[in-house]
Amino acid sequence: MSSLAIDPAGPLTGTISVPGDKSITHRAIMLSALANGETTITGYCPGEDCLNTARAFRAMGIRIDETPTNLHVYGKGQWGLTEPDGPIDCGNSGTGIRLLAGLLAGQDFFTMLTGDESIRRRPMGRVVKPLRTMGATLIGRKGGEFAPLAVAGGRLRGITYVSPVASAQVKSALLLAALYAEGCTRITEPRLSRDHTERMFRFFDIPVRHEGTTVELEGRPSLGWSSKGELAIPGDLSSAAFFMVGASIIPGSDVTIANIGINPTRTGVLDVLTEMGANIQVQNTREQAGEPVADVRIRASRLRGVRVGRDRIPQTIDEFPILCVAAAMAEGETVMTGAEELRVKESDRIATMATELRKMGVSIEETPDGLTIQGTAGHALHGASCTSYGDHRIAMSLAIAGLVADAPVHIENTDCMETSFPGFNAKRLELLTHSGRGL
Ligand code: S3P
Repeated sequence: MSSLAIDPAGPLTGTISVPGDKSITHRAIMLSALANGETTITGYCPGEDCLNTARAFRAMGIRIDETPTNLHVYGKGQWGLTEPDGPIDCGNSGTGIRLLAGLLAGQDFFTMLTGDESIRRRPMGRVVKPLRTMGATLIGRKGGEFAPLAVAGGRLRGITYVSPVASAQVKSALLLAALYAEGCTRITEPRLSRDHTERMFRFFDIPVRHEGTTVELEGRPSLGWSSKGELAIPGDLSSAAFFMVGASIIPGSDVTIANIGINPTRTGVLDVLTEMGANIQVQNTREQAGEPVADVRIRASRLRGVRVGRDRIPQTIDEFPILCVAAAMAEGETVMTGAEELRVKESDRIATMATELRKMGVSIEETPDGLTIQGTAGHALHGASCTSYGDHRIAMSLAIAGLVADAPVHIENTDCMETSFPGFNAKRLELLTHSGRGL
């Protein structure tokens, strides 16, 4: 298990790119594998989560050629998958396992879905229950609450479902199942979650209706869809967020992150940082495969505390750990509420950030649904021995916090960064080297 020692350093300067968007890459692999014809996915996320999804489709008979920048997928059509001869291992990926559960529910074969220790602790009932209502046969530990999941594909029918959680993974699992169902599927969520699945359906000319927080899809078990040849993935805003916060809190920093997705269902981090007083410029906005993309420049500035309530959680869900680091360096108090979903991510991100930032001298109070953080108003955090709990976003958030500490920060268990951001460290050093402080 590897570890990382972060020395106090800075400023961060330069222009970088980050790996492709993880959420969009999962969906691109799935829809390209089921399209008629070949698709080249450019700028994909080479993190372990997405590679596991690619392996899953290979195990179901889909040829996928891989280069460092592109995936070439030989789609076999909507009914082109074949039964895998062993369990499918989704690794650490909640998106992988939940979306596959939906997609496989409508196949005419049997599959077993499993993953690592963290995945086997995360709730699956949220997809299993509505999929069963659609007619699917799914079995799992504790009545279907936990993986491994056994999916005996079968005939599905459309349902109207009001989801208790704002979760793109739930919505997307049901939309993928709905492709195979007879009739219409209508899903309403309490607040709008990321809409990458809907956008990618439209990219492949699969009509989805959308009004407020309700999305509706007509089943199309016999229509299929065609490849569009090329599918370009934008850089991942969630990965860019680490360096955005790093640049904001380290005096003298000036960083541009090129070509990142700015889908409005994901940009809570830009809104929250801007409200905190961050100096962010979104430049060169354009569109790529149905997703808005831009270059984002961030310069250091003094941050102030902020309130982030339930309404803003879905757009900020994966950036919570790094926003805690921004809050720790801000002036005044930051209060985050309505964020209980964070307790069922790769780790309990409320508890893990509270525990680890406390070790670095931050005054932080944990509540059932969030955190209250007293900012240090730009004063250095303390050196400490920390752990990532095997959670990639915790590891990278602590690495950024280490840059503004007064002594080295040691982080245990940092292999997990590979989940979403292979090369995170190289990018960190590149931004420090530009300012002559990398080595
Ligand atoms: C994701 C949705 C989010 C997010 C996860 C990726 C997706 O989870 O936290 O990292 O790709 O659909 P929930 O939809 O369960 O909140």
